[in-house]
Amino acid sequence: MEKLMIRGGKPLHGTVTISGAKNSAIALLPAAVLADTEVILDNLPNISDVAIYSELLEELGAKVKRRDDEIRIDPSQLVSKPMPNGKVKKLRASYYLMGALLGRFGEATIGMPGGCNFEPRPIDQHIKGFEALGAVVTNEQGALHIRAKQLRGAKIYLDVASVGATINIMLAASRADGVTVIENAAKEPEIVDVATLLTAMGAKIKGAGTETIRIEGVKEMKGCRHSIISDRIQAGTYMIMAAATRGNVLVDNVIPKHLEALTAKLEEMGVEVQEYDESIRIIGKPSYNAVDVKALVYPGFPTDLQSPMTSLLTCAQGTSLLSDYVYGTRFKHVPELTLMGANIRVEGRTAIIEGGKLSAAKVKAADLRAGAALVVAALTVQDEVTEITNVEYIDRGYDRLVENLRNLGADVWREHD
Ligand code: EPU
Repeated sequence: MEKLMIRGGKPLHGTVTISGAKNSAIALLPAAVLADTEVILDNLPNISDVAIYSELLEELGAKVKRRDDEIRIDPSQLVSKPMPNGKVKKLRASYYLMGALLGRFGEATIGMPGGCNFEPRPIDQHIKGFEALGAVVTNEQGALHIRAKQLRGAKIYLDVASVGATINIMLAASRADGVTVIENAAKEPEIVDVATLLTAMGAKIKGAGTETIRIEGVKEMKGCRHSIISDRIQAGTYMIMAAATRGNVLVDNVIPKHLEALTAKLEEMGVEVQEYDESIRIIGKPSYNAVDVKALVYPGFPTDLQSPMTSLLTCAQGTSLLSDYVYGTRFKHVPELTLMGANIRVEGRTAIIEGGKLSAAKVKAADLRAGAALVVAALTVQDEVTEITNVEYIDRGYDRLVENLRNLGADVWREHD
């Protein structure tokens, strides 16, 4: 076990280049299962979730070769194999194997997913989608068994605009007989990325990125080459870190449009934001206004950035309100920030944050983004060392975090716990 040590107080300066998106990569890797020949993905993030997913694909018989930020997946020898336990339990996104294997083999047995459990995260909409496509779904000893003699296109209205359910249904429906229409689909950029890969593999998908997605099933899908979109959440986290440390950072290899909700909030706080074609410069200021933030589905403010944003709001003058309308109890970072001297109280789905100075403490990352919040907070603490345990959560989603922060001038290192 490792812990992260951060001596804060140094304004971040320089350029950070953002890797491919975690939440795309972990859907694109299982999507490759639907092809008959090799799929090559570029701009792959170097994170532990990707490493685990590659091993899962190997367990299913895929040949996987990885070099730098490229991965080659040859699924031609893939076998239909139950995966009730083991690595599937380590990842939330192992649920994408349900849709992908169902599409390829007409059956899948996958253990209920693990991952960041900041609150109960149901998958009823995924199951509803599989059933609408003609599958029979049973839950036996913590694993879902999903079988269909023949998947058939259907009209599916999602009760909540779920990212995971939208992608899972797209995966299975790509190989169904006939046309599937998903209504109230999620619109996150990662969904467009998955649809782009599936289309390059031969699927017929229209409307990804809107609330209505139409998928015409095809009999065969082939390999292709695809570059993963950049990670808007990693990018947003570095933007927040730059503002919190009153630094001056160019966040490079990003799609600024994907970060508009954050950019608008930072500007409202008084942070200077300069947008370029593929990069964003953040210039910190001595003092910030308190603001209200509502985390919503895309294109609203992302729930995955609300935890790091909580830490930034402790640097503002006055009272900020931050509400999460996607995950109403995603506040595991708050007790840890309180240990660092933050004045935050949670009422229902809202955190009420009073601006003030933080101090160093021994804290633990309760999940991936809660961990990112602690890193932001630790970077602001003048000359004192904050110790963050459970760093493996942070490694799930932040590519080369220590290296990047050091390049920006931060005093950060890892120690064995
Ligand atoms: N929901 C249901 N039923 C379902 C599915 C979702 O009620 O069948 C609810 C959830 O409880 C939640 C809302 O719908 O209140 C949205 O959940 P969604 O399904 O969109 O989330 P997800 O697909 O499980 C992905 C990301 C999360 C990110 C959310 C929201 C992956 C593997 N995870 O989760 O990423 O927070 O979308 O954008 O793509 C992270 O990166 O730290 C992370 C947790």
